[in-house]
Amino acid sequence: MSRFALSASIVIVLSMATAAMAVDPHVDPSLLPASCTSCHEGHGASRSPMLPGPQTEVCVRCHDSQAGVDRQVAKGLLSPEAQPMLLSRVFAMPFLHPVDAEAFSRREPGTVTCTSCHSPHRGMSQRDLGEPAAGVRRLSPRDPSRFEVELCQSCHGAAGLGTQSPLDLSRLTNPNNPSFHPVEAPAGERSPSVRPELSGREINCTDCHGNSDASGPRGPHGSAVQYILRAEYATVDGMEESAATYALCYNCHERSMVLDESPFEYHRLHVVEQRASCATCHSAHGSLDNRGLIRFGEEVFFGSVGPSMASGRLAFSSSAPGSGSCLLTCHGYDHAPESYGVANKYFAPEISIVGGVK
Ligand code: HEC
Ligand code: HEC
Ligand code: HEC
Ligand code: HEC
Ligand code: HEC
Ligand code: HEC
Ligand code: HEC
Repeated sequence: MSRFALSASIVIVLSMATAAMAVDPHVDPSLLPASCTSCHEGHGASRSPMLPGPQTEVCVRCHDSQAGVDRQVAKGLLSPEAQPMLLSRVFAMPFLHPVDAEAFSRREPGTVTCTSCHSPHRGMSQRDLGEPAAGVRRLSPRDPSRFEVELCQSCHGAAGLGTQSPLDLSRLTNPNNPSFHPVEAPAGERSPSVRPELSGREINCTDCHGNSDASGPRGPHGSAVQYILRAEYATVDGMEESAATYALCYNCHERSMVLDESPFEYHRLHVVEQRASCATCHSAHGSLDNRGLIRFGEEVFFGSVGPSMASGRLAFSSSAPGSGSCLLTCHGYDHAPESYGVANKYFAPEISIVGGVK
């Protein structure tokens, strides 16, 4: 950025700051008495937007630990009254969203920085608004004129990490698919087990992805659960079913309904008795091929399911809730096909599984 462009944007940022004074803690002089120079220093490191070091270093001065906060207060860069949310505990968790330790700016190609998801100047204090109501789409913490899902898909979408990437979630959540979890638009079909206040409504990426410690800072920075999930979710077969094992799903889908009153009459057989994971049959995001978020098709990447040995095919067919057929092999057990509901009564013998899932 040229010196002239930089001074011009300083004027713009300053006027933004005045307008946003009431909401943005970063440009509130009662919290950051040194104002802009709390973060910016002179011309800064070369090629940086006037920052003294890589961006994460600047952010964690105030957002890591109490010791860091005390140092900033001692230097007069932070008011003793300020209480920035501290992230050190979440950064110590085993599953982290990548953040580039060397980058200065989100504009450096191929990097993820704090400001890829946050505005450094127009802080969005969603915390003050409390936990958003269930079934309501959240706004992007970087740009409150956009939805959060648009922020996530700016990278986890076709234009972001690439259409062939498994991390392109927009392929799966596309409302033109036969089924999709409703992050972009309300679902095409009703789920009998979903909490009534969510029926026909929309959910957010961060309803599922975020801090597994509910008392810690919000946001998808890190989690004790793989895939940065907010609650436990066993993705491998062989785990004993409990409210905890699939807590993520049971947060929104009534457990007893799923197990005993679902249009899929063999949930209990598979999940409780045979210890199959929800993830073995269901995609968490959507399906390019099937109703009911069934992932047998293009998306399968969980080990235990393969093509039916008799037919060589891997497929789910179902034209309506409560009836369908599966062609597959699971832990050596051939479904060639196995069916449920009306399909079962006409085409298949009573389901029976010899031996358990190991
Ligand atoms: C000089 C200290 C300081 C630095 C450096 C700093 N912050 Fe902050 N930040 C604060 C304070 C103070 C608050 C407001 C806390 C409060 O509400 O009392 C805040 C609030 C926030 C919030 C909003 C939290 C909420 O209330 O919802 C976010 C997000 C945030 N900062 C991210 C960042 C990022 C990203 C960086 C680096 C670009 C950064 N901060 C650098 C002090 C700092
Ligand atoms: C909490 C830390 C923080 C504070 C306070 C802060 N900035 Fe920034 N500023 C940043 C970061 C980080 C970037 C780099 C953003 C990116 O990733 O591109 C930045 C970028 C800029 C840029 C480059 C253009 C842009 O938006 O990327 C200008 C100009 C700027 N800041 C001016 C200011 C002014 C003027 C103030 C005081 C009103 C201020 N900043 C306060 C952290 C801060
Ligand atoms: C600036 C680009 C960018 C943005 C914006 C972004 N991500 Fe990511 N995300 C990445 C990259 C890069 C990875 C790591 C990919 C890899 O490991 O190959 C990642 C990984 C993840 C993972 C972990 C995958 C795993 O296997 O553990 C999750 C979950 C995730 N992101 C969710 C989100 C959510 C939710 C949002 C929106 C709030 C978001 N991301 C916004 C770039 C981004
Ligand atoms: C944040 C809430 C939430 C969570 C968490 C959640 N769901 Fe859903 N789910 C929904 C909503 C909303 C619908 C749409 C149903 C409706 O509107 O009636 C839905 C629909 C479904 C459907 C039916 C889709 C269709 O089109 O027929 C399946 C299957 C499903 N969810 C499985 C799961 C599984 C498996 C998990 C755990 C990985 C899970 N859900 C976690 C909210 C959630
Ligand atoms: C209903 C809960 C739910 C919602 C909503 C959700 N995810 Fe996920 N996500 C999961 C689960 C569960 C997994 C891992 C296991 C799986 O795929 O079955 C996962 C995996 C991922 C991965 C890793 C994929 C890989 O192959 O490693 C990324 C990246 C991701 N999600 C990003 C997002 C983004 C971005 C959004 C919003 C557009 C989103 N998720 C919405 C539950 C959810
Ligand atoms: C992948 C996107 C993403 C990245 C990268 C990211 N954040 Fe966040 N962050 C979020 C989201 C989403 C929230 C939740 C916003 C909300 O609900 O208020 C959040 C919340 C926060 C909060 C407020 C926590 C609370 O409980 O109110 C702080 C502080 C914060 N982030 C700082 C940072 C810092 C510092 C970095 C870089 C080290 C960073 N974030 C990187 C997405 C991200
Ligand atoms: C053996 C494969 C299989 C497993 C394992 C499985 N499901 Fe399903 N599930 C199905 C099928 C098939 C349907 C579609 C039923 C229909 O609409 O005909 C379905 C439908 C659903 C629905 C939509 C209908 C409703 O009851 O609201 C939800 C929600 C659901 N499953 C959640 C789960 C959860 C949560 C788990 C793990 C605890 C799980 N499923 C495990 C096969 C499975």
